[in-house]
Amino acid sequence: MKKYLLLIAGMLCLIAVRAQNSLRSVYSPDKSVKIVVGLTPKTGEPFYTAWFAGKPISSGKLGLKGKGADFSQGFSWKQTRTAGSDQTWKPVWGEVATIRDHYKELTMYLENGSGKMNIRFRAYNNGVGFRYEFPDQPLKELAVTDEVTQFTMTADHTAWWIPGDWDSNEHVYTTSKISAIDCSSYAKETAISTKHIVQMKAVQTPITMRTANGTHISIAEAGLVDFSALHLEADTKELTFKANLIPSAIPDVKSVNKLPFNTPWRAIFLSKDAAGILNSKLILNLNEPCKIEGDLSWIKPQKYVGIWWEMHINKSTWDYAGSQDASSFNSVLKPTGKHGATTENTKKYIDFAAKHGFDGVLVEGWNVGWENWFGKWKDEVFDFTKPYPDYNIDELARYAKEKGVKIIMHHETSAAVPSYERQMNDAYAYMNKYGMNSVKTGYVGKIIPKGEWHDGQWMVNHYVRVAERTAQYKIMLDAHEPVRPSGLQRTWPNWLACEAARGQEFNAWSTGNPPEHETILPFTRILGGPMDYTPGIFQIHVNQFDPNKKEQVHTTVAKQLALYVTLYSPLQMAADLPENYEKRLDVFQFIKDVPVDWSDTKILEASIGDYITTARRQKGTQNWFIGSITDENARDVSIKLNFLQAGKVYEATIYEDGPGADWEKNPYPVNIRKIQVRKGQVLPLKLAAGGGCAISLTTK
Ligand code: NOJ
Ligand code: CA
Repeated sequence: MKKYLLLIAGMLCLIAVRAQNSLRSVYSPDKSVKIVVGLTPKTGEPFYTAWFAGKPISSGKLGLKGKGADFSQGFSWKQTRTAGSDQTWKPVWGEVATIRDHYKELTMYLENGSGKMNIRFRAYNNGVGFRYEFPDQPLKELAVTDEVTQFTMTADHTAWWIPGDWDSNEHVYTTSKISAIDCSSYAKETAISTKHIVQMKAVQTPITMRTANGTHISIAEAGLVDFSALHLEADTKELTFKANLIPSAIPDVKSVNKLPFNTPWRAIFLSKDAAGILNSKLILNLNEPCKIEGDLSWIKPQKYVGIWWEMHINKSTWDYAGSQDASSFNSVLKPTGKHGATTENTKKYIDFAAKHGFDGVLVEGWNVGWENWFGKWKDEVFDFTKPYPDYNIDELARYAKEKGVKIIMHHETSAAVPSYERQMNDAYAYMNKYGMNSVKTGYVGKIIPKGEWHDGQWMVNHYVRVAERTAQYKIMLDAHEPVRPSGLQRTWPNWLACEAARGQEFNAWSTGNPPEHETILPFTRILGGPMDYTPGIFQIHVNQFDPNKKEQVHTTVAKQLALYVTLYSPLQMAADLPENYEKRLDVFQFIKDVPVDWSDTKILEASIGDYITTARRQKGTQNWFIGSITDENARDVSIKLNFLQAGKVYEATIYEDGPGADWEKNPYPVNIRKIQVRKGQVLPLKLAAGGGCAISLTTK
């Protein structure tokens, strides 16, 4: 045995000597991606270059700096190891039924005066992942002050980005050259209640780019757990992005980690075209498998309606008592009569959901606290087990059960996180008691405790804690205003969706979302995970109840239907009011029919910021659904139906922009027609400016 160990030790020494100061590389399984790594000769700084299709794409320094410890230089290279994996796994829900996880791996084992650090690289055919690993060693804790990781681009690519706001991701995207990145105009945005933009050249991830020859690159993050979010600081002259970790309340410290630990993955999507970015499962593959044990049948993709849009368009309010001081709520307060979450109104939504086959009814404004919530930065605003006096929760739980509908719980925390943490168990037990199995959380406001940020480590840990805790109570989760997702839905599939971007609501009370917005989201924010965008607005002008409201949703009605296919989510809202759907039941039929779980997905064509056409096969059937959307330009589309099953006749119901449709001047016309189609046929479509088309293809 001793001899054997000596032999191994001897071999390891040999490898170590060979590895010193030399380059090492690893190719992806089909060799299209290559990663070369090394240490700079004198200073011992780790670096990498990622290649795609024979060309260098991204390169730079690697490492972390900490208080009293420096893991960015002075390294000697102990050894490297290569490995590989080819496995197929099944997500609990998703865009496809099975996912192949196929990569080659190379790990650098490094050591310097501060200790040991490994850098693990994975080369996929469509991208790169790498992370820092800190094995067990004398150092017990690392207070990270900086991550030196760089992504130096080889030319001034076109980039789609939002500012590196520490507190919000609810921004309109900018399309610019890397050299033109400048966030100063974002600082003027007034519709976002909480934002913190202090670095004028910092951007969020994922940031997606297109090179002059059409190669698409996206820099992203996977598996963000117990670390602060990865933003990037752009050096617009050197065309370099440097890791920019969001600070914490501890001066100069970005993240505090007990050893052993691994950082989240840094990921680079690589594709010869835009569609390849959307087809990539890189982020999911870099995440840990499902951690929820036992039966998972309680996790269900779902469609819902809710008492929600009516508050955003001033039909009703979240609060019960208006501006009366309700710091200690009691029923002496006088109701304003505008409260939305009443027993009667909720029953109306439950009836509508039951009649049209929706799974859930979201009710916002049901609990005490809303008189005090907005912009006050105070703790203990909400009570998550105390309904307003006009919301009879016992009766509504009974009624919803009778109608076969679930009430979706709403927990607006106003970012008073300690207060939410104190109430979490009671709040989830309360949901269990009333048969509610989904919660929408919200974090509008500046974070309590002071000094923490929506994208910092402290909050990252909170969001994950909520996912874990809700799973313990068999509750599904939809988080609004969290850090943008990084694929954790693989590990916590009860975490159905997040907002974490500029959603539909901005169309109700701000300059809104430009028509191109929904053609950018899938290439950026949604790469990390599903978005609760809340499509389905039919009443495009939002002055229905408040004549002073001048806003309109920047869309045609047909485009609203198409979004159910192009914006993937296992949780989709039909966001408009029941009365607006009742007026157009023929158009509403598509929202009733469209599934929220899929066996297969085909991106038929895509150009970031311009258009996307997506076809998806309903899970467990041969039915397909197509969504096609465009930006502010009208567009002719030819859809080749070569994905249909051979030999079958499909009934296609086409919901297209009607005569004269235009997002700005005439958003309402929808033409509905039915035709029979077969595999191989070509379907020509016309999309209006800011328009879209939705198609259901059913077969027996
Ligand atoms: C912002 C959320 O995004 C929105 O959906 C919600 O209605 C409000 N906060 C109130 O919680
Ligand atoms: Ca929001």
